[in-house]
Amino acid sequence: MKVLAIYGSPRKEGNTAKMLDTALSVFPEEAEIHRVYLGELNYSGCGPCRECKTTGDCVIDDDMQMVFKEMLWAEIIILGSPSQFSDVSADIKKLMERTWWMKGDLKNKIGGYVVTGRRYMESTLNTLHAFMLRHRMILGGSGALGLTFTEMGGLENDPLALRDAKNTGKRLVELYDLVYSGRLNQMG
Ligand SMILES: Cc1cc2nc3c(=O)[nH]c(=O)nc-3n(C[C@H](O)[C@H](O)[C@H](O)COP(=O)(O)O)c2cc1C
Repeated sequence: MKVLAIYGSPRKEGNTAKMLDTALSVFPEEAEIHRVYLGELNYSGCGPCRECKTTGDCVIDDDMQMVFKEMLWAEIIILGSPSQFSDVSADIKKLMERTWWMKGDLKNKIGGYVVTGRRYMESTLNTLHAFMLRHRMILGGSGALGLTFTEMGGLENDPLALRDAKNTGKRLVELYDLVYSGRLNQMG
C-alpha cells in the first residue's frame, strides 16, 4: 500500500498536520507512507509557458518535480489543508495548478483529505473535491473537518475532529482493499 501524505499548511506541526497524522495512524503497518511538507519546498504555481501542451510534461524546474514523482508513485494520496480565505492554502492551490499536465496519470488513485478551520470552509471542500474528481481519482474518506481557530492547537475544542480524521484513514484503507483485492470486479 503506497501512501502519499501532502501537508498543505506552512505550520509543520499545526492543526492540519495533527489531523493528517491522525488519519495516517490507522493505516496498517505494511503501508509505505511518504510525507511531503509543502511549506519546506520552493515551487511556483502554473507559469505562462504552456509547454506541457506540446511536451506533455511540466518543464518548470523546481521542487514540485519531486512531488510529481511521489504522486505518480502513490496509490493513495491524502491532502491536508487549512482553510485560508475560504479556500485551500496557497501551497495546495499551487500544487493543484501544477498538476495540469497530468492528463489521466492520477486516474483511479484513491484520494482523501482533511481540512481545518472554523468557518467559510465550503469552498475549501469544493476545491479539494473538484481537484480529485477532475483527475478521475476515487474520492474517499469521511470529509474530516477540524474545528480550529488561528492559534496552534485548538483541535481539543472539537472532540469529533480526530475521530473523523481516523474515519477518513479507515475509509481510504477500506477503498484500497476494495479496489486492489479485485473485489470490485467481483461486484460487477
Ligand atoms: C491567511 C489565513 C487565512 C485564514 N482564513 C480562514 C478562513 O477563511 N476560515 C477559517 O475557518 N479559518 C481561516 N484561517 C485559520 C486557519 O484555517 C486555522 O487556523 C487552521 O487551523 C490553521 O492550520 P495549521 O495549524 O495547520 O496552520 C486562516 C488562517 C490564515 C493564516
